[in-house]
Amino acid sequence: MDQKTFEFLYYRTRGASREEIIREAGISGAEYDMMEQSLAATLLELQADHPRAATIGRDFVKLTRYLYQDRSDQELGMPRPDAVKPRAGEIVALPAVDRITQPEITLHQAISQRRSTRQYAETPLSAEELSFLLWATSWAKDFRSGENNEFTRRNVPSAGSRHPFECHLLINNVVGIKPGLHYYHPLKHCLIRLEKPDTIAQDICAGCLGQEMVVKGAVILILSAVPYRTAWRYQQRSYRYLYLDAGHWGQNVHLAAEAVGAGACMIGAFQDEAMNDCLGLDGVEEFVIYISAVGKKA
Ligand SMILES: Cc1cc2nc3c(=O)[nH]c(=O)nc-3n(C[C@H](O)[C@H](O)[C@H](O)COP(=O)(O)O)c2cc1C
Repeated sequence: MDQKTFEFLYYRTRGASREEIIREAGISGAEYDMMEQSLAATLLELQADHPRAATIGRDFVKLTRYLYQDRSDQELGMPRPDAVKPRAGEIVALPAVDRITQPEITLHQAISQRRSTRQYAETPLSAEELSFLLWATSWAKDFRSGENNEFTRRNVPSAGSRHPFECHLLINNVVGIKPGLHYYHPLKHCLIRLEKPDTIAQDICAGCLGQEMVVKGAVILILSAVPYRTAWRYQQRSYRYLYLDAGHWGQNVHLAAEAVGAGACMIGAFQDEAMNDCLGLDGVEEFVIYISAVGKKA
């Protein structure tokens, strides 16, 4: 969803006048009329949902209590979800995890010097440093696949070891890797290059509300959640776990970045529709949940 569409829907849902919307969204009268027509169904849905949005946080906590839980799909014998999405594309090799030089920084140093870092040097990350970041955050160190269950174990904890995440990377400045959007394969420990328009970095930056670190960071890690992987076992309560799991991932991004002389900044302020569009996600079965910019310290 582009910015104009977003603003049209945003102001229209709040009852702004035609003139106000034309001014705020920077659109012409003809564009307004076209949106009014083509977005009629979306608008109706937003207007119907809008009053619920005022209490959804409170309701979410209330209705995901165990008191409301029913039998899970796992208990009902529904087919188990895959632990990793199948992907195809051009493979970009990474230094193997057992051959990465271990950074010398102590855990104490990494924790105590960690700060959100939003400004970066122009120095690139090495492929080995990137490999280390992915090892710390997303790599599957174990994979079990059977008829009744499939799961991975990683260097971050996850409720029920469901690991409901997929990791994409916007490569801006990593030695030996062409800039562009990639998917990280947690079993093969490699990147898969995704065919995207040349504007992908700017599109992702716009999706992150124009936060400059998205184009300045050496790499932007974009974590998406596949909720059913966790919901198969924990039903609606699983949505709590997604965000808890994401926090663990984020802290390992921070600490691993410190360990390689880089800094990270987490990004939670993004426009969901725009970010899901950038990755080609439907926003329901899979959606962007958390983002981190990483780059060498200035
Ligand atoms: C969930 C979450 C979302 C965040 N989103 C953003 C963001 O969108 N942009 C940003 O500049 N910083 C973001 N931050 C970084 C915080 O602003 C930062 O952690 C906080 O100011 C404390 O500073 P420190 O990390 O240096 O200790 C986010 C942090 C978290 C944990």
